[in-house]
Amino acid sequence: MSTAVVVPGSFDPITNGHLDVVERVARRFDHVVVAVLVNPGKHGMFTLEERIDLVETCVDHLDDVEVDAFEGLLVDFCRDRGIGCIAKGLRGVGDFDYELQMARMNTRIGDVETLFLPASPDAVHVSSSLVKEVARLGGTIEHAVPEVVARALHDKLADG
Ligand code: PNS
Repeated sequence: MSTAVVVPGSFDPITNGHLDVVERVARRFDHVVVAVLVNPGKHGMFTLEERIDLVETCVDHLDDVEVDAFEGLLVDFCRDRGIGCIAKGLRGVGDFDYELQMARMNTRIGDVETLFLPASPDAVHVSSSLVKEVARLGGTIEHAVPEVVARALHDKLADG
């Protein structure tokens, strides 16, 4: 039986933490769909196209990983794609409460299970929002995001 998993997120932008989850599930599942949230209500730093481009570049070295966009409920996307499993990284207890609620809700409304992967030691401190804040304030982000993302962040900030 072929198994597939969805790794969802805003990816604004993709970080080493996201990539760590994608790489780890890619070793365990036959197919991985990285699902980028279309969020018309939220103005991120990167447009949907930019977020997708960066994710695609960062997962290019992995076989059987595709990138797709989704709007609305994640469980509807999973149903449309015939996938019953979501994978998420957990950095610590701060993530856990909300992630647990979402996981239970997604099982209840869509019969979709969530697998939590403990963040790798190098990714425990990494989030898209912290990376953006550190970059904005002139700190080093090269340890937290792939090179292409660091460049895109610096370009974005230089453009104002
Ligand atoms: O990278 P993020 O912003 O933490 O990702 C959150 C995401 C996209 C996984 C979550 O907001 C989501 O699943 N949104 C889709 C809407 C939805 O299904 N909401 C109900 C969740 S129980």
